Amino acid sequence: GGVVCLESYHISGGNTLEGEYRLQGAKNAVLPILAATIISGRTSRIEKCPHLSDIRTMVSILREMGCNVSWDGSEILVDSSPVNSYRIPQKLMKEIRSSVFLMGPTLARCGQVILSDPGGCAIGKRPIDIHLTALRLLGVEIKEKDGLLECKARRLKGTTIPLSFPSVGATENVMMAAVMAEGETRILNPAKEPEIIDLQNYLVSCGAQISGAGSDEIRITGGSPLRETEYKPIPDRIEAGTLLAAAAVTRGKILLKEAVPGHMDSILNWLGEAGCKVQRGGDFIYLEAPDRLGAVRPIETQPYPGFPTDMQSQLMAAMCLAKGTTEITESIFENRFKHVSELNKMGADIQVIERTAIVKGVERLAGKRVTAADLRGGAALVIAGLAAEGNTIVENIGQIDRGYDRLEDILKSLGGQIERVSHTD
Ligand code: UD1
Repeated sequence: GGVVCLESYHISGGNTLEGEYRLQGAKNAVLPILAATIISGRTSRIEKCPHLSDIRTMVSILREMGCNVSWDGSEILVDSSPVNSYRIPQKLMKEIRSSVFLMGPTLARCGQVILSDPGGCAIGKRPIDIHLTALRLLGVEIKEKDGLLECKARRLKGTTIPLSFPSVGATENVMMAAVMAEGETRILNPAKEPEIIDLQNYLVSCGAQISGAGSDEIRITGGSPLRETEYKPIPDRIEAGTLLAAAAVTRGKILLKEAVPGHMDSILNWLGEAGCKVQRGGDFIYLEAPDRLGAVRPIETQPYPGFPTDMQSQLMAAMCLAKGTTEITESIFENRFKHVSELNKMGADIQVIERTAIVKGVERLAGKRVTAADLRGGAALVIAGLAAEGNTIVENIGQIDRGYDRLEDILKSLGGQIERVSHTD
């Protein structure tokens, strides 16, 4: 965290979002895949990479570790043959939490890795104990010294690794390290997110032997020679959900192209229950919103295929204006309700009791000056601003740029009134 940014969004609310949009590649698929490019020592061409600050940071880290990286339009070409460092640069490491999963690839490639405390969103404690326990089982020795983590493996040895919680990052780290371990690794209780399957598919395209992603057990046979590859990551289901939520609360009609509706059941079920007409095609989603959304049964964030925590705040922004009361429970992260006080400033009626937000729908929100504390919370404030009466200013939008490629341009193309304003002080 700690992103200080002097840009803000000025939003004039009340417009209906209408039109079509082609989804970008998923941030949370592209980031681990970029980290994984280190393993092969060859060239990986990754298509559909969105221009996000988190991805720029990952590219800088790869470069500092010796990779040749060129970024041409939406394609990133990584040649990892010249990797010459197993140190994750401390300054960059602090900028994104996802740098944590450089551990697995760097161990696979170099047999050791040194990193500092990982950064990321200010949403709760985010420890990395599950990663460390799993890597130790693979034969990694881990020492903490002066705020640095020194990890070394004379050899990585395949084994059975039960995860105490299906952590997305820990599952990815083990998959990537195990690709170079001796023998077979089995991950029990792995995360099942579509991004996990996508990482498997990328690794398989390099020649790795890995199967079972998306199921209750992932199996990796280490040591296969790896080759160069071209890979196209899955579309961003959270970008999709964010735009659907924005359309849902503005009486909108939108068509999302290059989508995978099968990755979004929990989100699409919510929108349907709230009164939207939702059509799922082979590679598109069409949504038509009602005049006013209706409250839905309680929703709790859960590991995939449950409702994604990365959509919790956008869901809440939309339900602020629904008829009736909706209970939203955050079960994945602590402290992921920083958007609540900002939404309440705009006239929402939300009360938080422990991990549950009780959202009483109001008839209108009023534009206000609010601040984005984290990425998805910031997106929620933009959604609220689009639906509110009058003008909303969302400050600290550097947080939003971590996960959306010029969100204002996307929303403008759909009829939203939103401008990026730079401050000089
Ligand atoms: C990934 C996503 C993030 C999403 C999250 C949950 C990326 C780049 N980020 O983050 O957008 O919100 O999945 O879907 O893909 N935990 C521990 N110990 C650990 C690891 C995790 O206690 O060693 C806890 C975390 O604090 C959190 C929960 O497990 O409460 C989920 O974390 P995890 O699934 O690891 O999320 P990330 O991989 O960090």
